[in-house]
Amino acid sequence: MIVVMGAGGATGSATLRSLAALGAPSRSLSRDPARLAAALDAHTLARTAPLAADAADPQSLRAAFRGAHQLFLTMANGPHQVRYELNAIEAAVDCGVGHIVKVSAPAAEPDSPVAVSRGHHLVEERLRSSGVTSTILRPYAFMQKLLLLAPGIAAAGVVHGATGRARCNYVDVRDIGDAAAAVLTRPELAGGTYPLTGGRAYSHPELTALLGELLGRPIRYLDLSPSELHAHLVARAGMPDWLATHVVEIQQLAVVREEAPDDTFLHLSGRAPRTLEAFLTEHLHRFR
Ligand SMILES: NC(=O)c1ccc[n+]([C@@H]2O[C@H](COP(=O)([O-])OP(=O)(O)OC[C@H]3O[C@@H](n4cnc5c(N)ncnc54)[C@H](OP(=O)(O)O)[C@@H]3O)[C@@H](O)[C@H]2O)c1
Repeated sequence: MIVVMGAGGATGSATLRSLAALGAPSRSLSRDPARLAAALDAHTLARTAPLAADAADPQSLRAAFRGAHQLFLTMANGPHQVRYELNAIEAAVDCGVGHIVKVSAPAAEPDSPVAVSRGHHLVEERLRSSGVTSTILRPYAFMQKLLLLAPGIAAAGVVHGATGRARCNYVDVRDIGDAAAAVLTRPELAGGTYPLTGGRAYSHPELTALLGELLGRPIRYLDLSPSELHAHLVARAGMPDWLATHVVEIQQLAVVREEAPDDTFLHLSGRAPRTLEAFLTEHLHRFR
C-alpha cells in the first residue's frame, strides 16, 4: 500500500492521479479528507482511500501509515515544514514503512542560499540516516506557479523579475506526478536522487517573448533588483513576507548557478517532459 501525503496539493494530487492511471491503489492523506474527496476525479477516487492526518499530530500519522509499505512525502512550504516532515519520517519508521519518496528542491544543501532548501537538506539527511530506502525528487520551478502571474499579465502585460538574462528550469507538476509514480511502482528506481526539469530553460525575456507570441500582443519584462522585486511581491502581488523572500532567493539562485535541463525525467518515464509552450498554450485564456 502506498500512502500519499499532501494529496490535495500540487505534487500530491499529481502523484495520486499518476498512480491511479497505473492502477496502483493508495491511501491519500489530508487534514480535510472530505474536501480532498470532493476535489478528486472519479477515476482517481475509485483507486484511493482519503484519510484524515495532520503532520502536527504524530498519532494521526501513525494511524494513517499502519500497514503501508511506501510513503510519498510532500509538504506545503511554511514555518513548520521541517518539523512536519520529520514527524512523518519518524512515524513511517515506527510503522515499518520500507520506502519514502520525498519531494525536495534544488540546492538542498547546508549552506544553500535558499532557506527552504536548507530545510529540505535537514529532512533529506534525516531520511538518509533513517534506515528506510529513500528516494529524493528535486523538481525545479513548477510551470503551474506561472498562473499566479496571469492576472498581472492580463491586466498590464508586464512580468516582474530579478533574474536579468539568467535562465530558469520549469517543470510541469504532472511530470512530477509521473516521476513519483514511476519510482513508487518500479523498485529498480528506488534509492536515487532525481532532479526534475522541463526540456529547456527560459530566461524571463525568453519567457515573455514566448508568451507574447502565443497571445499575439507584446508582453514586457521589467527587471528589478532583488529588494525591488521583494517589495513588489508584497505590496502588489499580496504575498506574505516569507514567500516573497523565498521567490527572490529562488530567482537569485538561478543568477548565481546556471540552470540547464537534464534528461533525468526521460530516464524515469521513457518520454520527453511536457514543454512550457504546451503548458502556456493550454492555459492561454488565463493570460488574456
Ligand atoms: N513551487 C515550486 O515551484 C517548487 C519547486 C521545487 C520544489 N518545491 C517543493 O515542493 C513542495 C511543495 O509541494 P506542493 O506544491 O505539492 O505543496 P502544496 O500544494 O503547497 O501543499 C501540499 C499539502 O501540504 C499539506 N499540509 C499542509 N500542512 C499540513 C499538515 N499540518 N499536515 C498534513 N498536511 C499538511 C496540505 O494538505 P491539506 O491541506 O489537504 O491537509 C497541502 O495540500 C515544497 O516542499 C517545495 O519546497 C516547490
